[in-house]
Amino acid sequence: MDNCAAKILFIDDETAILDALQGLMVDETWDCRFAASGAEALAVLETEHFDLVVSDIGMPEINGIELAKKIRQNYPQIVRIFLSNGVDQKLAVTALAEGYTQQIVPKPWNDQELKEIIRSALRQQAQQQKHSSEFQALINSIPLLPTLPESYSNVRSCIVGDEVDIEKMADYISQDVSISSLLLHWANSALFGQRFQVDTIKKAIIVLGTDIVENLVLSEAVNRNIAGALPDLKGFDFKKFKKHSMATAVIARLLIKSIYSSDYVKHDRAFIAGLLHDIGKLAAASFFPKRFEQAIAVAIRTRCSLSDAEYQVYGTDHAEIGAFLAEWWALPPFIFNAIHRHHQPYSSPVDQDVIAAAHVANLLSYQFHYGSNGDTLPRTISDEYRGKFYLSEEAIEILRAETDKTLSALNR
Ligand SMILES: [Fe+2]
Ligand SMILES: [Fe+2]
Repeated sequence: MDNCAAKILFIDDETAILDALQGLMVDETWDCRFAASGAEALAVLETEHFDLVVSDIGMPEINGIELAKKIRQNYPQIVRIFLSNGVDQKLAVTALAEGYTQQIVPKPWNDQELKEIIRSALRQQAQQQKHSSEFQALINSIPLLPTLPESYSNVRSCIVGDEVDIEKMADYISQDVSISSLLLHWANSALFGQRFQVDTIKKAIIVLGTDIVENLVLSEAVNRNIAGALPDLKGFDFKKFKKHSMATAVIARLLIKSIYSSDYVKHDRAFIAGLLHDIGKLAAASFFPKRFEQAIAVAIRTRCSLSDAEYQVYGTDHAEIGAFLAEWWALPPFIFNAIHRHHQPYSSPVDQDVIAAAHVANLLSYQFHYGSNGDTLPRTISDEYRGKFYLSEEAIEILRAETDKTLSALNR
């Protein structure tokens, strides 16, 4: 869907508000319709297709919530935004908590802000449309997708084309104590082949390279933002999740190094793929915790993979959800693919070796007991991949020792 052709339905029982909205939208290319009641809106929806509804929450007869409930049920692909004047505070809280709306805009609104919210909602809607209706309904049940963490955008802004402003990047990173110490740890670890003490952020950036730095900042920020508000979940432990991601990153880098000893881009990509591969689990755990918990329980009870259990419970899995998030954030295509295909690397259209390394690293990471988190099935690495990465029993033991060493140094 092209944003130009997007169709929006505005609903408010106050004529003055509808007039104001109409005036505001006049210079936009969106196709806008206006309805003065819930009943009128439902009648219009029956005959025309819409991408987005922007509705008042407190209306006589059919209020915003009742209307949204019907829209969610009958047209799950439509994104819903509410306008609220603060009087209907209780309704607003229910609407957000129960997933009837993705966003609430207070009245009076700020014109530019409202337009930006609409634009962002339409982008999300366009992206959703590529997926099954079950997936669309799931994504539609959560608030608007989180924006890219600011710390990551800051770091990215230091890279323009092939030019990198390392001073500025070091400045941004130095403001954050935990990410600074993480970078120094990695830069001093044997994994990145450093023999001299790295004691400044600037040196750490040079040793690690900007790709790795960028993505360590991203994963730290996502961990912090998304996991910061994570509810207690049976079968999902955030510390284990973090360890599993780190371990997978370390192992993936070692694996790809064993077949491409001097292709540094591939080394970095494998590390990044490992680091971010399960990001969809974090999203599932925070956006729909109950259903995620249920999927973990199904996986354990029926001894199926977590992915299969997720499909049973909510019609998609963490690989697809994570990929959706990566696309939403416009992360580079190899990251999107690594997240999307980490269970089936052979189906990836590009970067197959890197994604295969992340895939095997994921399995080895479980084998080395780095965080099971619902995935309790015994895992076997296919003969093809054993051959590809020279994985004799002895080689696996060496990998285990190197991974233990790298991760324990990180925890010191
Ligand atoms: Fe996974
Ligand atoms: Fe994993």
